[in-house]
Amino acid sequence: MDVQKVFHMTGGIGSTSYAKNSSLQKKGSDRVKHIIIETVEELYLASTPKSLGIADLGCSSGPNTLSIIRDIFESIQKISQKIHQPASELRVYLNDLPTNDFNSIFRALPDFLMSLWPETEPGSSPSIFMGAYPGSFYGRLFPNSSLHFVHSSYSLHWLSRVPPELYDEEGKSINKGCIYICGSSPEEVARAYYKQFREDFWKFLRARSAEVVAGGRMVLIFLGRRGPEHVDRGDSFLWEILARSFAILVSKGEVEEEKVDSYEVPFYAASREEIEEGVRREGSFEVERLVVSASESGDRAETEGGISYGKRVAMAVRAIQESIMTNHFGDSVPLESLFDTYASLLDQQFAIHHHHHIQPLTFVLVLRKL
Ligand SMILES: C[S@@+](CC[C@H](N)C(=O)[O-])C[C@H]1O[C@@H](n2cnc3c(N)ncnc32)[C@H](O)[C@@H]1O
Repeated sequence: MDVQKVFHMTGGIGSTSYAKNSSLQKKGSDRVKHIIIETVEELYLASTPKSLGIADLGCSSGPNTLSIIRDIFESIQKISQKIHQPASELRVYLNDLPTNDFNSIFRALPDFLMSLWPETEPGSSPSIFMGAYPGSFYGRLFPNSSLHFVHSSYSLHWLSRVPPELYDEEGKSINKGCIYICGSSPEEVARAYYKQFREDFWKFLRARSAEVVAGGRMVLIFLGRRGPEHVDRGDSFLWEILARSFAILVSKGEVEEEKVDSYEVPFYAASREEIEEGVRREGSFEVERLVVSASESGDRAETEGGISYGKRVAMAVRAIQESIMTNHFGDSVPLESLFDTYASLLDQQFAIHHHHHIQPLTFVLVLRKL
């Protein structure tokens, strides 16, 4: 599978779209929004450039995309009032893979711009210029030294590809029965995933190092794991339950076992050490902050609008995974049945275990360009 050609969040605004199923990511980034704002403020006060270049990498489509841009815009307005200077113009570069639903974002832009500047006189508009830059963030996307601030949320844990070492010479998976590193995975599986992450993270930093000005900042929010162990009750747990849901479909004859065996996700949850080592090795940035944040068990109110927590997680995973699943299994893959099973297995697990034992970790990495 060519991740770059295939992978996209479910577009539009229908019931299975990412736009309608991204509230968990929103909650996650809201918890750490103060770090984004503090970083932007510090950066702005230090340089007050006439034109501030901002990129959002893996912007997707839906309410989260423009909500972060609004936060940044408003914080710049506030500081410039405080220091009695006209606010800089903002150049906003929205990035995602080419099959992302950029049209939905563009359609929302006129109202968005109006809402930033409610008292606008007809004909005038806020100094914010937005454009889309489709492509993989594992390569160059923007002109040299064009960015002051880079934001990315819940995107960098996606690898550029499924590690090729997961398949033997005959193309058979060495990670049968699992779709990510799991309890029964041979050691080579974790090694292959880490190798891919190391390579991708290096490419990511190297590309940004040309694009970000000296002193510029990046706030990167992504999923990670607690310690050196790969299998925990955070991210790997969610994939294990998904693998179990697939096994149930196989036992009912709804999907072929061989197809499930070869299905692996291009995902990696890095550890703090791996992230720090990656930044050091590439050498263009220094770590200003590396904060760990986990959802509170209170976030997991049993139901929200009559929808259980398990169902909400399942819908979020579906909106993210659907494109690569249909690419792998074909259009006839019974997604309803798969994600109904997944939702009920998740609800069972959440009921059995104490909520706070089962939660993915979010890392917030603040980097400064040297
Ligand atoms: C779960 S969404 C997060 C969207 C949004 N930032 C949010 O917080 O809700 C992850 C996004 O990363 C994008 N993505 C994954 N790999 C990418 C890559 N190599 N280059 C650009 N975008 C990528 C996906 O297409 C997807 O839209």
